[in-house]
Amino acid sequence: MTDLPIYPLTNEHKMLRDAARDFAEKKITPITTEFDENEKFPHATIKKMGELGFMGIELPEEYGGAGMDALAYVLALEEICKVDAAHGVIMSVNNSLYCHGILKFGTEEQKKKFIAPIASGKAIGAYSLTEPQSGSDAGTMRSRATRDGDFYILNGRKSWVTSGPVADYFVVFMMTDPEKKQKGVSAFLVDGKTPGLVRGKKEPKLGIRASATSELIFENCRIPAENLLGVEGEGFKIAMTVLDAGRIGIATQALGIAEAAYEAARQYAGQREAFGQPIGSFQGTGFKLADMKTRIEASRLLIYNAAIAKENAKGSNGRYSLEASMAKLFASETAMFVTHQAVQIHGGMGYSKELPVERYFRDAKITEIYEGTSEIQRLVISRIELGSK
Ligand code: CAA
Repeated sequence: MTDLPIYPLTNEHKMLRDAARDFAEKKITPITTEFDENEKFPHATIKKMGELGFMGIELPEEYGGAGMDALAYVLALEEICKVDAAHGVIMSVNNSLYCHGILKFGTEEQKKKFIAPIASGKAIGAYSLTEPQSGSDAGTMRSRATRDGDFYILNGRKSWVTSGPVADYFVVFMMTDPEKKQKGVSAFLVDGKTPGLVRGKKEPKLGIRASATSELIFENCRIPAENLLGVEGEGFKIAMTVLDAGRIGIATQALGIAEAAYEAARQYAGQREAFGQPIGSFQGTGFKLADMKTRIEASRLLIYNAAIAKENAKGSNGRYSLEASMAKLFASETAMFVTHQAVQIHGGMGYSKELPVERYFRDAKITEIYEGTSEIQRLVISRIELGSK
């Protein structure tokens, strides 16, 4: 496999990337099959990833983070996802959906209390926007947060929460003023131990089965008013801002899956013989590999570009929605294309649980769905391009 020198990486970037690669190969590879088959949450390896600094890569050191840039985050996440996309989504949600929003919109007290334990791996964070009847149309949520003196009382049902069954802390979006629709949404920080917060059923999933996903049910869940993130009515913008960061993480997850599937297919094509020669020497296979490689490298360019746009936007209100959505759209569709071709090149062995190729194929699908479907990414991109938003 040829490594294309695309972006000049610093020594720190390379060291972090190599550390993530080493950890993933040595500590995650041996457990992937068992944890995938049994839907076991990888508590020990996630804790270790926190200790190594992978859970708060872009967070300043004063909050327990590694103090690195957005490209560093992408490089480390890519290595984890090459080995296991389930570890990857837990890492992505902790870094982007959870920490990013608190860092950008939180008070000093909130940052100290809610970020530091996540960055060190002592705790797990989650993000809860979706509801059973509102996914893509996120502004139509029904759950309610009502102010009661120094508290808010939360009621409602949330769904598809990554790390929902195990998270210690949540960023939760609820309506404080339903009349105002999106401008009536607010964001809250919720301790997972708060009475009235009930974890719903764990979702049985096609892929990323070692990650845990569930509903959350809020029944008169009383939280301190100081846990409001940002200001009342700004919740929808916070949710969208955070999703821009999250989408770069999911794009990277897709890239990692695609790279793993490609490498397996490339090696198999060189070894497996049919009609007296390696199947890679047939144009039908060689051209497949050429398309897979080209789309992977195009994904990488879009992702690194989005990471740099995110870095440039730090400390300002600048948006990088276009870059993030293009990266997620292209990388997730590439992951589906590449894993599909990788199964095909492997023939029957691609369909067998003896090799990880079938897992890559199952894991790839979710990247076209969560944190905004491919249709939503096209909507975001086309609206920006047409100047309609
Ligand atoms: N950054 C900042 N502000 C933004 C923004 C962004 N990226 N996107 C929109 N906004 C602002 C707009 O400027 C607008 O503000 P003003 O009214 O002041 O101008 C406001 O938010 C409303 O925006 P829209 O009118 O564009 O809203 P919309 O209702 O048309 O919806 C949407 C836009 C893009 C479709 C949005 O609803 C969306 O992204 N939907 C998909 C939701 C999603 O990705 N869900 C995944 C949840 S997480 C998950 O998957 C689970 C997990 O745990 C991993």
